[in-house]
Amino acid sequence: MRIAITGASGFVGKALAARLELAHHTVIRLARRDAGPGSARWDPATGEIDRAALGAIDAIVHLAGENVAGGRWSTRRRQAIADSRGPATERLCKTLASLPTPPRVLVSASAIGIYGDRADELLDEQSPPGRGFLADVGRAWEAGTAPATAAGIRVVNLRIGMVLDRHGGALAKMLPAFQFGLGGRLGSGRQWMSWISRQDLLAAIEFALNTPSLRGPVLAVSPHPVTNREFTAELGRALRRPTVLPAPAFALRLLFGEMADALLLAGQRAMPKQLTAAGFVFSHPELGSTLRELLSRQ
Ligand SMILES: NC(=O)c1ccc[n+]([C@@H]2O[C@H](COP(=O)([O-])OP(=O)(O)OC[C@H]3O[C@@H](n4cnc5c(N)ncnc54)[C@H](OP(=O)(O)O)[C@@H]3O)[C@@H](O)[C@H]2O)c1
Repeated sequence: MRIAITGASGFVGKALAARLELAHHTVIRLARRDAGPGSARWDPATGEIDRAALGAIDAIVHLAGENVAGGRWSTRRRQAIADSRGPATERLCKTLASLPTPPRVLVSASAIGIYGDRADELLDEQSPPGRGFLADVGRAWEAGTAPATAAGIRVVNLRIGMVLDRHGGALAKMLPAFQFGLGGRLGSGRQWMSWISRQDLLAAIEFALNTPSLRGPVLAVSPHPVTNREFTAELGRALRRPTVLPAPAFALRLLFGEMADALLLAGQRAMPKQLTAAGFVFSHPELGSTLRELLSRQ
């Protein structure tokens, strides 16, 4: 297949592009700046794509967006996080719909943040979205794909959990503190964490591209979410380090502001109902063995 990827320079996109190329697909990186051969320019502010460089594509994976965990949520960052999701996705989808031969399938990133903070509730694709900034962003992000659906493109809104890999994302951020024995639960530690290994996420994206029965919201999370307390203990065990220093909620709020409540102290206990029903098999279903494997690799 000829597959376009937005956000191909990111933590997920870079690894996805490499995996798809290894499987002999042709990958077109849709980048905001000139990214050389095998790429095409797109402008999230207008939705315009360099159509000549894009050519006819079979599929597109849309991962681009301002990094949510990239720093305190100033007014400007909040605006950038929101603008780069709902409105940018809608513009991209209008352009896709107007192509002479639109792609057959769009896998568009979304996130479990769409559920807001849900305590112990078991969540799946049928559960309604929640409240708060990330839930609003998630709702607009998914709604932004409507022009693609209207044009007959099969759209999968992949509600992604915390993506785990040693070389980036949340785990790479946590590692230094935990390696120094300074890791600990966040707040009460009772909040649920829905996670997925990066390897399983890439496989799930490929699966979504190739599975015609999948459309609409699809959770990309392992079938075994854990509480933050369990996550902390498993990470300490994998590193053979103590995890006795909790980070109190007030300290996290001081350090990270509003982001602390939305990202670190809020929980979602989500189940990958659609993926499992469609026959997807996780290579990394359990957290303990996943962390041990990820951390034993260099
Ligand atoms: N990592 C996770 O744990 C996780 C969890 C849930 C959901 N997600 C979602 O999955 C997607 C990929 O995640 P990731 O971890 O790979 O993200 P990432 O490393 O932050 O990469 C995102 C990419 O988006 C592009 N981008 C950055 N700022 C942008 C902006 N203001 N407007 C438009 N594009 C922008 C960049 O690509 P170019 O410079 O090449 O354009 C960047 O490489 C994101 O949408 C993220 O929200 C990730």
